[in-house]
Amino acid sequence: MDFAFAELDATQRYKLLTALVVPRPIALVTTIGAEGVVNAAPYSFFNTFGQDPPLVVLGIERRERTVSKDTGRNIDATGEFVVNLVDEDLAAAMNLCAVDFPPEVSEPEIAGLALAASRFLRPPRLAAAPAALECRLFTLMRIGGSRELVIGEVVGAHVRDGLLDRERLRIDYERYRPVGRLCGDLYCFTRERFALRRRSYAEWRAEEAAGSGA
Ligand SMILES: Cc1cc2nc3c(=O)[nH]c(=O)nc-3n(C[C@H](O)[C@H](O)[C@H](O)COP(=O)(O)O)c2cc1C
Repeated sequence: MDFAFAELDATQRYKLLTALVVPRPIALVTTIGAEGVVNAAPYSFFNTFGQDPPLVVLGIERRERTVSKDTGRNIDATGEFVVNLVDEDLAAAMNLCAVDFPPEVSEPEIAGLALAASRFLRPPRLAAAPAALECRLFTLMRIGGSRELVIGEVVGAHVRDGLLDRERLRIDYERYRPVGRLCGDLYCFTRERFALRRRSYAEWRAEEAAGSGA
């Protein structure tokens, strides 16, 4: 089956891309609105790319292609947001935060999520999140009239005690238990994992030579 993207409408492109590019991590983003309301909403057009500077990206679609979502508006106005990572215990509350509540409604309040002060920024993190990244707006690009691409610089991270080995910065995935997004309403666990040791070219050549009996 082959597709020419120029022949697909926006919905078909969305369905295809979000069905194939999986699993996607979920950012439950907290921001502060004009009236001081704490907003929280999930975003799975989300990832990190690069460490120097340390950056994360969010893709925010406008409602009906015209109306900015609260998250995008708040980030544009304040330049600050917190990415709360989502584990199994937080999944149902995350989904409640995806309801299109009006800006004056605080999703953490509705979802019964306690807030904790951030270290560097005004928007709080969610106390129940296993990890949170404090981000300052690096750049915001408006794309195609209906989308905002937010790039944030991570200025601080909070990780729940017991998840991370501080010396080696190794995470304990048995305890972290993040969930990923498949397409639509489908999610996945990260309970099963496997390792593949990455080799250098020299190692690969040595293994090849040993394998071929040379
Ligand atoms: C798991 C999940 C991931 C989502 N990812 C995105 C996304 O990447 N971009 C987007 O525009 N909306 C996304 N949404 C929808 C928003 O969360 C939803 O429109 C929400 O009401 C926006 O809230 P806000 O106006 O408070 O920012 C997602 C929803 C769910 C449940």
